[in-house]
Order: sequence, then C-alpha cells, then structure tokens
Amino acid sequence: MYHTMTRLFSSSQQHIAEAAQLLRSGELVAFPTETVYGLGARVFDESAVRRIFVAKGRPSDNPLIVHCAEKADVERVSEPLEKSQQRLFDALYEAFCPGALTILLPKHSSVLNAVTAGLETVAVRFPAHPLAQALIRAVGEPLVAPSANRSGYPSPTTAEHVMSDLEGRIAAVIDGGACSVGIESTVVNILTPELTILRPGSITKEQLDGIAVKQGFAPFVYANENASENAAPQSPGMKYRHYAPNADVFLASSLAEAQHLALTYPPAQILARREYVDGASIDELSEQSLYATLRNADAEKCRTVIILCDEEVQKNVALMNRITKAASKR
Ligand code: TXA
Ligand code: MG
Repeated sequence: MYHTMTRLFSSSQQHIAEAAQLLRSGELVAFPTETVYGLGARVFDESAVRRIFVAKGRPSDNPLIVHCAEKADVERVSEPLEKSQQRLFDALYEAFCPGALTILLPKHSSVLNAVTAGLETVAVRFPAHPLAQALIRAVGEPLVAPSANRSGYPSPTTAEHVMSDLEGRIAAVIDGGACSVGIESTVVNILTPELTILRPGSITKEQLDGIAVKQGFAPFVYANENASENAAPQSPGMKYRHYAPNADVFLASSLAEAQHLALTYPPAQILARREYVDGASIDELSEQSLYATLRNADAEKCRTVIILCDEEVQKNVALMNRITKAASKR
C-alpha cells in the first residue's frame, strides 16, 4: 500500500491510459478537476475505497463523492428518483453539469457502504475538467474522489500540492496545472421536503434557486451545521476541522486591523481582495487562490495568516465558509 514512488503523469493519452490501468488494478490515482484535485479509486473496488481513507487519514464516517462522465452512469449508483425529484435533477443537470455541483441521490444497493459511510444516499458529481472525464471514460466506471489532501489540510489545487501531501501513499498524480475554480463543489440535497445546500460552493444559492423555483420548488436553505450538537450531521464532512494550514488563521474586518494583527503575530501573511494587494505584504484573496496561499504561508513558515474579510468578501458565502473553517481550531 505504501509506494516508494508516486508517478507524476502528464495529460498525454499514453499517461491517461496508464493511470486508468493503475485504477483498474486497484491503485489510487489523483487527478485534476475544475474545483480541486481528487484522489480517485474505482467506485466498486472495496479495497481501493478503503485505502483512500488510510492514505488521507480520513475518518471512515465521512462519505465520498462519486464522479461520473455521463448522465447515464447515474443508473449504476442510484435508485430511480420519484417524478418531481427527477424533473428537478434533470433541470439542475441541464443548468450546471458537468460542473461544480454535487447532488445527493438514493443509493443503489451495489454501492459500497464504505463509499457512503453507511448512509442511504450517494453523492454524485459530473466534473467538467476534460482530464477527469477522459480518465473516468478510460476506466469505464465512475470514480470516487475526495479532495486529494491529507485530511484537515487545505484541498490541493495543483499536482505539487497533491505530491506534498500524498507522495509515497498513492500510485500516481495526473498533472493538469492549477484548478480553475479552486474550492470544492456545491453539495445539495434534493431528496428532503426542504431543498438544502450542505456545502456552499461556486454555484450559488441564487443560481440554484432560479432552477428550483422554475420547477415549482421552494428556494434552497443552507443546512445549519450547528443546528444540534447531538443530531447526526446531514453531511458528515461538515463536522470536521477543514482547510486549515499549520499557521494560525485570523480574520480582520479592516485593513488597519489586519496590519495590527500582522505586527502583533509575526511572521504573518495578509490575504485581501485584489484591490488591496501591494506586492510583498498582502497576497490576493480569491476562491481560485485561497488554498494555494494558505499552503504557501506554511511553506514560508508564517506564524499567522490574516484574512481581510471586508463586506465584499462577506457576501461570498462559499469563500467565507472555507475561511471560517480554516480559522477554527479543532
Ligand atoms: O469539488 C469537489 O467536490 C471535490 C472534487 C475532487 O470533486 N471533492 C470533494 O470531496 O470535495 P470531499 O470528499 O473532500 O468532500 C465531500 C463532501 C464531504 O463534506 C462529505 O461529507 C459530503 O461531500 N458527502 C459525500 N457524500 C455524502 C452523502 N451521501 N450525504 C451527505 N454528504 C455527503
Ligand atoms: Mg475534502
């Protein structure tokens, strides 16, 4: 299970074919998606699925997303939906897939409990990245793929990030350059009477509501992560520490406060929207660059990362969700 060497593949057809062969023979291969890099395994290979949890250090009660290349693949992992849900699924698929949207569906009995962590639902996504699609097609079967980071650390947006977390633990990484979206997909549940957003992402509530309302549903609501300490979380991943670098992350609401914190807890890196960037002391904050800058702060041995969350940033629900988690201690 421990590889002395993790191969770095290019996007060539030859390398995609080799990566697919590794997956078919039960190995783990990381690959780029438009959101973040995923750590792939064949969805029906129980031993490979289990090794994903070991390689990442991921708690086994946190289920995996199934990545499909075609809409028809859904029938292999999901039971049929009831009529109105099917209409909504079709409309969401039409509007946002392939893309950064993950939809919970009723789990097919053939889907391993290791994939869904024993839940009755299975999360399905159709990545838009051509290399992800090519790999799934070459394997001929959907791939489970959590973000390809060590559990708890920021998700990888380059092949180098994957290597730095998982080298020697997985067979290969396909290098597709930097991910264009940079944060993970929006996760939604359309199976409950109330449509819920379990994890905000680059596809926004407003975009989703546009489709839901047209299909005769009430708008989506955000799942309340802290609704009840005792209740089983709707999305198990939400209860874990996430996206956090080794440096302490502080939020500031003004530039003056950010600069004060930076002087108090050096060495520090300030992240702020592009208009604040001044070269050395302030890095750009965006969905696309957040994880890379957090990782970079660790590489540069920063003690603190200070994120300027002005009103503009606070309007970005997905970005605020990741920032708040990065700043919260286990
Ligand atoms: O953009 C993404 O979604 C990336 C790329 C690689 O596709 N993947 C990703 O996977 O972020 P992961 O494993 O890091 O996050 C999956 C999230 C977790 O919060 C998990 O709890 C939730 O999806 N999830 C998966 N299956 C679920 C289910 N059946 N019910 C509720 N939540 C589920
Ligand atoms: Mg993850």
